Amino acid sequence: MTTMIDGKKRACVTGGTGYMASLLVKLLLERGYAVNTTCRCPDNQKKMSHLLELQASFEELRIFRADLTQEGSFDTAVAGCDFVFHVATPMNFTSKDPEKDMIKPAVQGTLNVLRACAKSNTVKRVIYTSSLAASMGRISGTGTVIDEGCWTDVELLASEKPPGWGYSVSKTLAEKAAWDFAKENNTDLIAILPPLIVGPSLTLEVSASFSSAMAFLTRNQFLINSMKNVQKLSGSRSISHVEDVCQAHIFVAEKESVSGRYICCAVNITFLELANYLNRRYPEYNVPTDFGDFFEKAKAIYSSEKLINEGFRFKYGIEEIYDQAVDYFKTKGLLPK
Ligand SMILES: NC(=O)c1ccc[n+]([C@@H]2O[C@H](COP(=O)([O-])OP(=O)(O)OC[C@H]3O[C@@H](n4cnc5c(N)ncnc54)[C@H](OP(=O)(O)O)[C@@H]3O)[C@@H](O)[C@H]2O)c1
Repeated sequence: MTTMIDGKKRACVTGGTGYMASLLVKLLLERGYAVNTTCRCPDNQKKMSHLLELQASFEELRIFRADLTQEGSFDTAVAGCDFVFHVATPMNFTSKDPEKDMIKPAVQGTLNVLRACAKSNTVKRVIYTSSLAASMGRISGTGTVIDEGCWTDVELLASEKPPGWGYSVSKTLAEKAAWDFAKENNTDLIAILPPLIVGPSLTLEVSASFSSAMAFLTRNQFLINSMKNVQKLSGSRSISHVEDVCQAHIFVAEKESVSGRYICCAVNITFLELANYLNRRYPEYNVPTDFGDFFEKAKAIYSSEKLINEGFRFKYGIEEIYDQAVDYFKTKGLLPK
């Protein structure tokens, strides 16, 4: 394979306090990269604890303060880097004003990061973490295959405002803004589109998305309802292991010939199928499975064929994903042993 890594490379990962970004930082360091990461509040010891621990083992980790909403904020962190992984995004799912709290900062922040990359004159490739939420094509009947050509209908979502609309719109508009910028500025941009991300976290707090993936087991009704809403919006409640998602980011950074968007979905599953699977595998947690005929049939299949055809292989299937997640939740005291 033709790779983009000859000699020591420096990568910047935005939002190192986050669930996925923190593991990406660790995997990059373990792979021999020097890493710059950004966070909003470097003085918050609780949020920073995993990064400080990593810094104790890897002197090549540097931490910078940067905020998506501040013009020029990422310039120093990005300067001198070969790759930039733009992962940070506002995840204010309960916001009463998604336009202000999610959509504007996601778009503005993405452009701020891309401008910093263009100014640097060193960044060879930008890897943008998008989401399946940006690729929800029109779902008709059962088994609609969604691929990288599909885009979420922002106008429809913004006019109907179903639960969760703000996040989908923010991810779609931020990714579109990134592609427009890349075209105008000749930036080498790759987007990864993960589904719900599940798996052990380096951060002290468990992220909202991981908690919602575990909602059937913890029997958290609010989060079960939010899973239902995602199923209604996207026709699926598909998942990938956090390590696979991070490895896919590194894979597309290093493989010279890749281009465009890549769906990174290991397990295509519906809300109801997931409840039934978890009930069979972990009977001790009495997972609820009676949801009437809620989306028993309607199902979108998010195809990772393009990524797999490039040579990427998923390491984790549903059994390993949930076995690890259950063990992790038990260790954290979030599920009874
Ligand atoms: N988790 C999933 O299931 C999932 C699925 C598909 C796609 N994704 C995408 O994957 C990426 C990471 O998700 P995650 O679950 O790891 O999220 P997360 O744990 O909530 O992390 C989000 C990060 O963004 C940072 N951030 C938020 N607003 C910011 C701002 N104004 N300025 C600077 N940083 C800001 C947060 O910093 P603070 O710590 O300071 O708040 C945090 O580090 C996101 O782009 C998300 O859309 C996630």
